[in-house]
Amino acid sequence: MIEIMADNNVKDFILEEANVILGVTGSVATIKTRNIISNLKERIPEASVCLVPTEKALHFLPDDVVKHPEAVEADKIHTDKDEWTLWAGRGDPVLHIDLRKWADVLVIAPMDANTLAKVSNGLADNLLTCIARAWDFRSKLALFAPAMNTMMWEHPVTGPQVDTLKKWGFVEIPCVEKVLMCNDKGFGAMAEPETIADYVVKSLKDRSNAKRPRLSN
Ligand SMILES: Cc1cc2nc3c(=O)[nH]c(=O)nc-3n(C[C@H](O)[C@H](O)[C@H](O)COP(=O)(O)O)c2cc1C
Repeated sequence: MIEIMADNNVKDFILEEANVILGVTGSVATIKTRNIISNLKERIPEASVCLVPTEKALHFLPDDVVKHPEAVEADKIHTDKDEWTLWAGRGDPVLHIDLRKWADVLVIAPMDANTLAKVSNGLADNLLTCIARAWDFRSKLALFAPAMNTMMWEHPVTGPQVDTLKKWGFVEIPCVEKVLMCNDKGFGAMAEPETIADYVVKSLKDRSNAKRPRLSN
């Protein structure tokens, strides 16, 4: 049995569109949101990006981002408030479920220590963690880029939480070593926006190729 799956297939594959949920959290790395989205759109021309910030993440985004998501190149934005204003009674949309259905991929970048702890323990107390809790890993991709102080990263609670996410199917975009915003030097900084976009595209391509029918004789 020979599988015919030339490398060319991978190289020639052009990713035109994807619905992306970008979850951002209360890490200072959220200031790079615009840069992450522009890198994604460079690589996926028809990407539609829905930004989902936690309450704390809003501190690191432009003041009027909820009214003007285009300020960070997002196509739309949903916050915790929307989850509760959209639902008044039976038959109304449940936002975290609708977003889960809409998206091809969930990217949480930066994923701070708090959201990592919550997601890895199944907590679902805001829009982003509800989306993550309702995620279908069998049919959809999920990636996370940790971002935290070095001592937080090296704390014994971190490793098992990261491993849990990976075991479920999350792809880790590893953090890097640098001088952090708090002036400590070490691991824990979020990967560069270019690297994050590359990981998303590679994961989507891998998934797409895996789904292609394979020719065999
Ligand atoms: C200026 C500032 C920067 C912060 N940066 C980080 C960070 O990079 N990583 C992290 O894990 N927590 C960081 N925190 C702490 C989080 O914001 C805090 O744990 C918060 O509760 C996270 O909430 P969320 O996970 O719902 O966004 C920072 C806090 C402040 C005030």
